[in-house]
Amino acid sequence: MTERQISKPVIDSDQLSLLHLDGYKSIEECHLELTMLNVLIGANGAGKSNFIGFFKLIRKILDEQLQLTVSEQGGPDALLHYGRKTTEQISVELRFGISCYKFELKPTSDNRMMFQREVIFLDSYGKEVSTFGHFETSNQFYKSNDAGINHLDKVIEGIKKLNIYHFHDTSASAKVKQIHGINDNLYLKEDASNLAAFLYRLKQEYESHYKRIVKTIQLVAPFFGDFILRPTIGNAEKIQLEWVEKNQDTPFTASALSDGTLRFICLATVLMQPDELCPPTILIDEPELGLHPYAITVLGSLMRSAAERHQLIISTQSVELLNQFEVEDVIVVDKKEGASTFKRLNPDELSSWLEDYSLGELWTKNLLGGRPSR
Ligand SMILES: Nc1ncnc2c1ncn2[C@@H]1O[C@H](COP(=O)(O)OP(=O)(O)O)[C@@H](O)[C@H]1O
Ligand SMILES: [Mg+2]
Repeated sequence: MTERQISKPVIDSDQLSLLHLDGYKSIEECHLELTMLNVLIGANGAGKSNFIGFFKLIRKILDEQLQLTVSEQGGPDALLHYGRKTTEQISVELRFGISCYKFELKPTSDNRMMFQREVIFLDSYGKEVSTFGHFETSNQFYKSNDAGINHLDKVIEGIKKLNIYHFHDTSASAKVKQIHGINDNLYLKEDASNLAAFLYRLKQEYESHYKRIVKTIQLVAPFFGDFILRPTIGNAEKIQLEWVEKNQDTPFTASALSDGTLRFICLATVLMQPDELCPPTILIDEPELGLHPYAITVLGSLMRSAAERHQLIISTQSVELLNQFEVEDVIVVDKKEGASTFKRLNPDELSSWLEDYSLGELWTKNLLGGRPSR
């Protein structure tokens, strides 16, 4: 690794500055510094979704659902890198500003996973709290220690605020299309299932943000007029996503939106919401799915500007999207001998190429890595 200074360090102690992840799925070993903008590129099967999915596991762990998740995913062998014959344990270290959360998970003979050790380190107190040999996250963290309980909460809260958005489901049964509670509007849910309620709140409380979102949607879908945000007719406690075309007054529901448009609406809302409602870290796996190249360009610029205040961790297969970023934003994921590798691009190494080619062209020409290999 080079000793280069990273160019967009995280700005908040809620944001993830360093990740060590060993022994998880295709990831044998990953030691990665994270910045405000982290764009993972790589071939199919390289390990991008495993990387982003790992944060779901962390969230489940903090919700005391480790064992449930392990069994849902097929037991410890499905989680350990090539199973327990190859990998003894999953080791994790997440660093948030001054604090850090570490643990090792080992498989047991009855197909559970046990915390070999779980540690929270609070730098400000120079205090480390460790627990051993339990099956769900340790309540000891919350109880018996005198100093720094608030800081502890902050670490846990920081992890819980790693929001992993997924808008891939746009089928008729997609949650974003369903009627939901009008007061379910504290923050935008990860599957956008409360999108209408959230937009309703923005329109009332954050009008300028709301207008910017609508204008941005119109850039990508010029026929889009506005949302119709109102309680449902039979039940004032409920709301559903409705919209009108420009210069028309017949409301459509979300089912009349194309998949790409609906996904773009969700993405624009996530990326343009007011700072105080937005989580400190946003993760999105392949946000470009179903989007037109021009929509992808707009999406790239929304991401760049959101990343000035919020940490973004995304994966992409899109050359157009890649072209929206700078070299140092990009992390190339490759598969070498069955193991995912993660390498942040170094502008110094690519400067002569970048005089003549875009990042996307360099990727297509296989000069960045992150292409299929045998
Ligand atoms: N327990 C495991 N051990 C080793 N490799 C695994 C394990 N689980 C999944 N994989 C590998 O991860 C690949 C999927 O990686 P994924 O992150 O979905 O790729 P992508 O980069 O396309 O998002 C699978 O094809 C498989 O090779
Ligand atoms: Mg994937």
